[in-house]
This record gives sequence, C-alpha cells and structure tokens, in this order.
Amino acid sequence: MTRRPFIAGNWKMNTRRQTAIELVRQLLNGLNQDVRTEVAVCPPNPYLTVVADLVAGSPIELGAQNLYPAGDGAYTGEVHAGMLTDVGCRFVILGHSERRQYFAETDAFVAEKLQSALAGNLVPIVCVGETLEQRQADQTDEVVRAQILGSLEGLDEVRAAGIVIAYEPVWAIGTGLTATPEQAEAVHQLIRKLLGELFTPEVAAQIRIQYGGSVKADNAAQLLSQPNIDGALVGGASLKAADFLAIIAAAEATLA
Ligand code: 13P
Repeated sequence: MTRRPFIAGNWKMNTRRQTAIELVRQLLNGLNQDVRTEVAVCPPNPYLTVVADLVAGSPIELGAQNLYPAGDGAYTGEVHAGMLTDVGCRFVILGHSERRQYFAETDAFVAEKLQSALAGNLVPIVCVGETLEQRQADQTDEVVRAQILGSLEGLDEVRAAGIVIAYEPVWAIGTGLTATPEQAEAVHQLIRKLLGELFTPEVAAQIRIQYGGSVKADNAAQLLSQPNIDGALVGGASLKAADFLAIIAAAEATLA
C-alpha cells in the first residue's frame, strides 16, 4: 500500500494579511508544479480567502484549523464546514492539542466535529498525542488509544479510509524537542494497528498518519523515512517558506 505523502502547514494564530501573501508567494515560487507530495496550508480564518485566491490552480491546497459542528445558525464567533468549503478549504484540523488544552475540547466533541467535516466534504486531520507527564508515566499508548477510539467514535469504514490522523506529542509541539524517529514510528504503528481493529487492516493501510511536533528542515527526512509516518503537520517551520519547502523536498525524496 503506497500512501501519498502529505505535508500540511498549521499556521496557528500567526501571520497577517501581508505576511500570509508573501509566504504563499514564496511557496508558489519554490514549489515544483508537479510535486507528488500533497501539500496544504492552514491559515487563520480571516486569511482563508486571501490564500485561496493565491493558491487557486496550484498544487497547494487549503485547510482550516477548526470548525463548529452545526449548520447556519446563532453560534456567535463560530464557523461551520459549509463556510470552509465555500471559501475553498479541502482540509480541516480537528482536536489539535491546543484546542483540547485551551478550549477544553473532548474526544466526544472532536467526534461530533468529525461527522460534521465529513458531511460537509472536508477531509479531517484528527490530532492525538500525549503530554510529557503522560509519557513519563508510561501512559502514551493508553492515552493515544483512548483519543483515537473517542475521536473516531461513529466513523464508518467507508469514510475512515479518507481521513488523516496527526500524531502530535504535546511535549514536542513548539518546544524544539522532537520525538525520535523510533519513538514516533512506535506510536504510528500502534495507531495503525488500532485502526485495523476498528475498521479493517485494508482500511488502516490507506489512512495517512502525519507526525507533528517541531518538524524542521533538518529532522524531516529521518522522520518521513519511517514506514508508518506518511507526512507531517508542521507548525513553526511552516511559517518560513524555505523551511517548509525543505520539508516538502524531504517528503518528495521518500518517493524517489
Ligand atoms: P511545531 O511544529 O511548531 O512544533 O507545531 C506542531 C503543531 O502543533 C502542528 O499542528
């Protein structure tokens, strides 16, 4: 089973209109038109349309960082799947650890969002990952297991094959600490095994699992060479065109 590598940039609450435009222009300049790796950027909501216009017709796809699982209605401050596809999004990040931590998002809420994303024709990138305390207490496997089971609750086999999972150990996010390729691969293997039990091994073999957590130009190649690491969800390094392009190049090299 060959899974197409997938590199996504999570810009989080960074960039302004002008820096977003410059970043995308540099990415478009540096990116080969026939890049085989799937590439997406996930800007803050106010800049989605600006970026959508710039990337139209290019290999760069658009993702959002969150959604609210409802249709049009009285939900002040929220944005739903239909609005995101309307402005050109193909992906949506769900259950990022920053949302779990600062906005008290539970697995059950992530599962609701997942249904909403799929019903709205968005490809969800479902994030899971343990904290430093949990890793030190040897709870990584059970934490990740519970997050996968809870966040994918209600997902059927047919739709499961199209989702993306991102394993992002919380202790590696924005810290400069990266899981070693072996540490990451071990959790990716566990996730794939779990997906095989939840669905079928054939479906599990199709689901792309990204690694996230201080992925940089100089560690991407090693991480991406692991058999169960199918891409990266990149924070800080996605804000610098040269770094993000180097990470994409590392993914391309796995296809050579
Ligand atoms: P950093 O790459 O900045 O560690 O962020 C990772 C992340 O949270 C991507 O979603």
